[in-house]
Amino acid sequence: MQDEIAESNTIVEETFAGIQTVKAFANEAWERSRYRERIQKVVGLAVTGGYYRGAFSSFITFGLFGAIALVIWFGAGMVHEGELAADKLNEFILYALFIGGSIGGLASVYAQLQKAVGATETIFSLMDEEPELVGGEDVTAAQVEGISFKEVQFSYPSRPDVPVIQGLSFELPKGQTLALVGKSGSGKSTVASLLMRFYQSQGGQISSGAHSVESFDLQAWRKSLALVPQDVLLFGGSISENITYGKISATEEEIIQAAKEANAWEFIEGFPEGLDTKVGDRGVQLSGGQRQRIAIARALLKDPQLLILDEATSALDSESERLVQEALDRLMQGRTSVVIAHRLSTIRKAHQIVVMEQGQGIERGTHDELMKLDGAYAELIRLQDVLGSDTSLAENID
Ligand SMILES: Nc1ncnc2c1ncn2[C@@H]1O[C@H](COP(=O)(O)OP(=O)(O)OP(=O)(O)O)[C@@H](O)[C@H]1O
Ligand SMILES: [Mg+2]
Repeated sequence: MQDEIAESNTIVEETFAGIQTVKAFANEAWERSRYRERIQKVVGLAVTGGYYRGAFSSFITFGLFGAIALVIWFGAGMVHEGELAADKLNEFILYALFIGGSIGGLASVYAQLQKAVGATETIFSLMDEEPELVGGEDVTAAQVEGISFKEVQFSYPSRPDVPVIQGLSFELPKGQTLALVGKSGSGKSTVASLLMRFYQSQGGQISSGAHSVESFDLQAWRKSLALVPQDVLLFGGSISENITYGKISATEEEIIQAAKEANAWEFIEGFPEGLDTKVGDRGVQLSGGQRQRIAIARALLKDPQLLILDEATSALDSESERLVQEALDRLMQGRTSVVIAHRLSTIRKAHQIVVMEQGQGIERGTHDELMKLDGAYAELIRLQDVLGSDTSLAENID
């Protein structure tokens, strides 16, 4: 029953979190019927449970009173025959009632025990989860000396038989930018997750300098990295709280400085409450470009040694695109960066481009080299041009 309740709660949670999608597809009735089905299962289980409990308690009660009736029956007979004194019989009945009553109570204790076992199953399975491998022996404050991928193999634990990264190799020297480009689903974001050590590679080696990244203390490693993800999550709270997420101890001046460098200050200033403007579910909803700039400010404040940028594909208008691009340029300047790039302007500035397909690096080189090669990369760029999504191309031609 508890499992079913959890399932039905999931439906409610999902429906409310995705209320816009539900409404957009006019699927309220379908969601309601989905919920009703689940709830009916819960009710069905509760009723069945009630029957069993009822049968069990009636059995116990029947047994108890039956036993007492028997005792009185035999006892009365024995008193009548003179084998037992009447006060002894009373005493015996009283004791029998006490003991019988306590045993009768076992029924509800047993039911409660069953409930508790059901609840703890989930807790125990959570407790059995393996924690992240926190620290190797080499607990140095991570100095990121560039990044190297050597024949890295990886598949997600939920789908172990589907290889997502298959023998990917690249060398990224300190201070340079590497752009990962490729079709959707080719494994670009997975590379970012591997760098953040959200997952462990199953083959090959990911290293920084002479050390495998796994030998670094996990917290220290992540502290020296910043990830600007594909879809930026802002926490419910003020804009300043969201920016300081990169560095909790930041002063107001630092926050403003970071916001300015991220080209976010202009729109923040436009809000009546400025940095204290509430964002997220209960506050102002920021646009995609604004959220990105907040994320960039966050990363700037963190001042990471390695920057991982998962560019969103969402087409920004050329003005926001320019603002975001400028902010990114500042963030990436002289910093070791791995950029999953869609904007041609970012790609062109990269020291090295790796074209990914099905988890493999199929082409590598600079923009000009790859254009000359006239392979998959040139094809990708041509497609971008045809789609006309690339407003930055014109800016780059000069
Ligand atoms: N958490 C996950 N569990 C299982 N498989 C996953 C998971 N995340 C991604 N995948 C699979 O791994 C493959 C690569 O996904 P990835 O997110 O790295 O693609 P991508 O190159 O970033 O694509 P896009 O350009 O659309 O962001 C996909 O086939 C995807 O279905
Ligand atoms: Mg991705």
